[in-house]
Formats: sequence, structure tokens, C-alpha cells
Amino acid sequence: MSAGLTPEPQRSITVRAPAKVNLHLGVGSARPDGFHPLDTVFQAVGLYDDVRASDGRGSVVVESASYLGDVVLPDADDNIISHAARLLAATAPDALGLAAVDLVVQKRIPVAGGMAGGSADAAATLVALDRLWALGTDDPELLLLAARLGSDVPFSLVGGTAHGTGRGDLLRPVPDLATWWWVVVPSLEGLSTPAVYQRFDEMFPDAPETPASSAGVLMALASGVPERLAAALHNDLEAAALDLRPELGDLITRGEVEGALRGLVSGSGPTVLFLCDSADGARALADALQAEDRGVVLVANGPVAGAHVLGPDVTSGA
Ligand code: C5P
Repeated sequence: MSAGLTPEPQRSITVRAPAKVNLHLGVGSARPDGFHPLDTVFQAVGLYDDVRASDGRGSVVVESASYLGDVVLPDADDNIISHAARLLAATAPDALGLAAVDLVVQKRIPVAGGMAGGSADAAATLVALDRLWALGTDDPELLLLAARLGSDVPFSLVGGTAHGTGRGDLLRPVPDLATWWWVVVPSLEGLSTPAVYQRFDEMFPDAPETPASSAGVLMALASGVPERLAAALHNDLEAAALDLRPELGDLITRGEVEGALRGLVSGSGPTVLFLCDSADGARALADALQAEDRGVVLVANGPVAGAHVLGPDVTSGA
């Protein structure tokens, strides 16, 4: 390169999206389309996946935190990140250079863990490419695209705390002024969400059409009192997840003995969550569980923001 010329900076944008927990997960009997009607309260917690989109050659690469083991995408083209990219590209007036974008996904959210990690990746991809391609897609349109990608993807965009109905995709923000402290214990091996719903159908053939109401959790949230939220937490998929992974029951009991206000399965599992009374309480519980050799134990607080752009990439000033 000739002296004095500065190369064009490579355009790059990084978007961060959070994991979710369900404070209430009421599940009704399966609808004719196979999905289950939900009455749920989501909370976004401070455990994140990042997606970096930059000018490139059409690659999708996954990098993952060591505690997740080796994460392999299902297929170069048949994964939720590529689906999100194609869906957004199809909304553009002109053909976009999908083949000229590199996507790097940095995973920290447990995979197939009941914390919407794949949904976070999809939401982050939508926002990153919308910015990279300067599409300016408005929020309602982005939410519609998100719902086509998966039931939890709209919430990954919105974040905070929200009441979800439909199959979890119809959202209403919920005021949530407190900071809640969670201990998160992932499992090395994930659980398939459809398999957990199927087990739910087998175990509860008489489940009502209308899912259990989240009113109790909504009142507890408004109180800001951790003990009240602990008493109200509810997950209709927990019995099915525990049936598939009975050893999680022992973990939940241990955490409660060690000081958690309440332990429960996260969404369809197998990640286990513990609500604690404070940041110190969460750190003490994490230490106690780690001392028992239960693998990785994380601390996260919520609510936090949904998918959002991080500042520009930092480069070496040398
Ligand atoms: O929407 P998503 O692709 O995340 O759903 C994955 C699977 O989980 C669905 O195919 C369905 O088996 C199950 N599911 C369900 N009811 C919901 C959400 C998901 O039965 N409300």
C-alpha cells in the first residue's frame, strides 16, 4: 500500500443481547398449531451474547465461553442467526450483500438452557444488520420479524421486564424498579424445548386451555420485596424438565439449603435459577455451590436492557 494513504476503515458493529428468565410461566394446553398459549413474565438478566457484524465474506463464526464447551452451529445456513440475516435482508428494497457480511457470535448464555440464548443471537443479528445496512427498520416491524424467528425473540429485543401472552411473543412492558439477584447454574448438556413441551403434554393431558395467570408475580414485583417474589415464582414446565433431568431436583434443594430464597428451573430448563435476597447473598450462594463442585455457577442481576448496540470496537493504539 502506498505511503500516506489510510485504508478505508472496515465497518463493524457489535450488538449485545441478554438472557431471559421467566418469573412466571403459565402454560395452557397445546393449540391446533402445536404451540402452547402462555401467560408469562419475562425478565432480562445480565448474562449476554454479542453479535459482531462487519463487511466480509459471508461467514458465521461462533466463539463461546469456556464453560459452554464447544458450541457448534447446526449448519452454516440452517441456524437462527443466518435465518435472522436472511429475513431482514428480504425486507430491503434492494438486494443486499448478505454474502459480504461476516457475523461473529460470542456466546455466554447457556445453549439449549431455557434462557433464550438462540433468541438473543437472533435479536442481536437483526439489530446489528439493520444498523450495518442502514435500513432504519421501525420497532413494530422489527418485532414482527422477531416473532417469525421464535417465540422469545421479541422479548430479547425489548428486554427489561415484560408480560408475555400468545406464544410468548405478545409483550407489554411491566414496571420493575427493584434490582433482583440471581444465581444461575447451567448444565453441560442442554434440553430440547419441544421435548420439554411434549413431556408437559404427556404429564398434563388435562391442562386447561387458559394458562395460569401471572397476577401474583406482577404484584410481588411491584412490592420490590425479594421474599415476596420468591414465594410467587411459578414455572409450569418445571415438572416436565425435572422428569427429564431428575438430578436437578437435588441441586434446587441444595441451593435453598445454602440460603437461596427460592430455586427453580429456568423456562424449559435445564438451567437452574436461584433468587437471592441481595448481591452479597447471591455471591455467597455461588461460592457455596462452587465449593461443592457443581460446575460453573454464575451471578446475574435483572432487569437489564434488551438488544443494544455497543460502542465502537476498540483497537490497539500502537
Ligand atoms: O418459538 P420457538 O421456535 O422458540 O419454539 C420452539 C418449540 O417450542 C416449538 O416448536 C414448540 O414445540 C415449543 N413451543 C410451544 N409453545 C410455545 C413456545 C414454544 O409449544 N409457546
